[in-house]
Amino acid sequence: MSAGSAQPLRLTVIGTGYLGATHAICMAVLGFEVLGIDVSQEKVDRLNAGEVPFFEPGLPEQLAKALDSGRLRFSTDYAEAGAFGDLHFLCVGTPQKPGSDAADMTYVDSAVTSLAPYLDRRALVVGKSTVPVGTAARLTALLQRLAPAGEQVELAWNPEFLREGYAVEDTLRPDRLVFGTSSAWAEEQLRTAFAPVIEGGTPVVVTDLPTAELVKVAANSFLATKISYINAMAEVCEATGADVHDLAAALAYDDRIGGRFLKPGLGFGGGCLPKDIRAFAHRAEELGVGQAVAFLHEVDAINRRRRARTVDLVRELAGGSLEGVRVAALGAAFKPNSDDIRDAPALDVSVSLRRAGAIVRVYDPQAMDNARRSYPELDYADSTMEAAQDADVVVLLTEWNEFREIEPDALAAVTAGRGIVDGRHALDPATWRAAGWTYRALGRP
Ligand code: UDX
Repeated sequence: MSAGSAQPLRLTVIGTGYLGATHAICMAVLGFEVLGIDVSQEKVDRLNAGEVPFFEPGLPEQLAKALDSGRLRFSTDYAEAGAFGDLHFLCVGTPQKPGSDAADMTYVDSAVTSLAPYLDRRALVVGKSTVPVGTAARLTALLQRLAPAGEQVELAWNPEFLREGYAVEDTLRPDRLVFGTSSAWAEEQLRTAFAPVIEGGTPVVVTDLPTAELVKVAANSFLATKISYINAMAEVCEATGADVHDLAAALAYDDRIGGRFLKPGLGFGGGCLPKDIRAFAHRAEELGVGQAVAFLHEVDAINRRRRARTVDLVRELAGGSLEGVRVAALGAAFKPNSDDIRDAPALDVSVSLRRAGAIVRVYDPQAMDNARRSYPELDYADSTMEAAQDADVVVLLTEWNEFREIEPDALAAVTAGRGIVDGRHALDPATWRAAGWTYRALGRP
């Protein structure tokens, strides 16, 4: 691997959020010299001090290892990045633009325009952010116009598929690597940078820039579609008295379908799936092929209906009105093992319940600080039992293990009512019913 050879590649990672921090840390652990760049001095200081600014299992240990090796540091200085790096990974966010379905390209564009003036020798800029197809072509022109090294600076696209909660594993041992390149040199640089991962047996797909950009949104659209598919079946089950849980289990035995991402419930949220399908549909419309992915609007609509339907179930258990009803909301993060609340179905439901007149008390094992900051209007508790104290209805919104393990009798000892809505199909209905609870779940009789 090149990291051990005479002139090892030096890497910069621009943007140190979930994606960038994990990438920078893991590449240093793999043996490369890495400089992480962020505009936030606070983030840079925390990372340099060995503190991961978000919850990600296993990452703090890897950060300690990387810092101890002396191969990793963080800075806010783009001049330093230009002087240091042979490869520059772009890992900044592309959130949904306010008031539009399109992706907000402000951070990507600003990273490129900040870095380019310091690129005065041959270098490869590697995009990892999820972007509208066509971005790489636009950024190539921008880079080559602004960089003193001109056409000596190339751009490649290397989409990232990491899942929060499994970020370290997904970075060190990904399913596949995708290299979108426009020259043999760029491919060689990427193969060198990922040599330790490739040696571990990860397959590589080498392709052009637009295909590499598309792989990411196509993958996330497929996953979102699969989740909405089973949730659409849940709606049909509700109308017929069928059980979507058993339906999904039976479908999953067909290898062609498979059981992953076929879990019915409250649906998808987070910083990727929702905004990626919207941005993809928006971009396809700009390109004149909107019809090809028009179904993504339906995927989005099914997903939103799950949230509204969960509110309905709580209302039904409360006897028809939410006014003054005490609800214990278990979960705030968009999924377990994360403190991320971006587009979190859990908080969406809690806010809707409150708007309908309920008194909602939220507890989440990791996302409390983020939830409190973004939704100060909700009430919060420090434990499941505190949230459930005197509650009329309990609603499980994020399937953390500690919620799966709740004893029905212990919960009943503190609640006022015995109604539970299992928004994530995380509990065993028979056990809860046997303990005297009224158990309801989306798509289950
Ligand atoms: C996703 C992609 O999986 C990842 O490859 C990409 O790089 C980024 O987006 P992430 O957002 O971390 O990763 O979460 P993921 O584990 O995919 O879950 C997304 C959402 O779907 C969660 O809200 C989860 O609760 C929900 N989900 C997932 C379901 O509702 N049902 C399922 O069967 C699976």
